Amino acid sequence: MSEFVNILTEERNGILYLTVNREDKMNALNFATLEELKEVFEQVIDNKSIKAVIISGAGEKAFVAGADINEIATLNEVNARKFAENGQEIFSMIENCHKPVIAVTNGFTLGGGCELAMACHMRVASANAKFGQPEVNLGIIPGYGGTQRLTLLVGRGKANELMMTGDMITAEEAKSLGLVNHVLPTKAEAIAKAEEIVAKIMSKAPLAIGMIVDCVNAAFSEENGYQTEANSFARCVKSGDYKEGTSAFLEKRKPVFRGE
Ligand code: COA
Repeated sequence: MSEFVNILTEERNGILYLTVNREDKMNALNFATLEELKEVFEQVIDNKSIKAVIISGAGEKAFVAGADINEIATLNEVNARKFAENGQEIFSMIENCHKPVIAVTNGFTLGGGCELAMACHMRVASANAKFGQPEVNLGIIPGYGGTQRLTLLVGRGKANELMMTGDMITAEEAKSLGLVNHVLPTKAEAIAKAEEIVAKIMSKAPLAIGMIVDCVNAAFSEENGYQTEANSFARCVKSGDYKEGTSAFLEKRKPVFRGE
């Protein structure tokens, strides 16, 4: 993995730990950080040794407190559209990644930070996490997919309320809305929970995990999700891992999946 300026990466036991590292700016996503996120995920897709990604924010105060408002303040109508489309594209890349991506959110998870967390496959929060889409306070709306993903995750009424008021909610409230999978007392425990989930997923057939990503995403797209499911099911059956999984069950042993 290359070295980055605004992102720290560390690979351990098949997991890429990606830390947004602008602690003095509450890990706000500036253009440079977004481009680095894109580069990281391009490498994650191609890198066979990386099996999963855990994303967090540096320090104890914030996961990511949004897009960088210094840059937002300079937008015009033309580059604002590009700004949104670029962020949407990078976050879709994360959402479509065939390896599990878990956001560990700690402290402020606002605006583009909440959108980044929602683009991940799951969210594990520490108790001090605060979620919100406060763009309305700046006279704008979420632009990195938040209007869509928040609505799909929490439903229309709650999404409208959160985006129209700009209110922040606690980790426990976020969990009760389905925005967060698990809440743990501290950031360290939240990371340990994410590692536990990822370890379980890494023991399964990688091709099947990738197919689950495609099928779940299809449920939220204009694709016929049932057709995607049938096609993906057939692709799994072509794999060596399918033969291994079914043989291992019948031979009463643990399967050894090879991702092929
Ligand atoms: N963009 C750029 N800088 C940001 C930022 C953002 N989204 N969020 C925080 N920062 C910066 C602050 O400007 C400050 O920088 P400075 O020390 O150079 O002045 C630093 O991070 C610390 O933030 P501060 O506001 O002093 O901390 P706080 O604890 O009082 O408040 C927040 C924390 C997160 C509530 C507050 O910073 C905030 O509301 N941020 C903006 C959230 C937002 O609107 N996000 C959506 C953007 S589209």
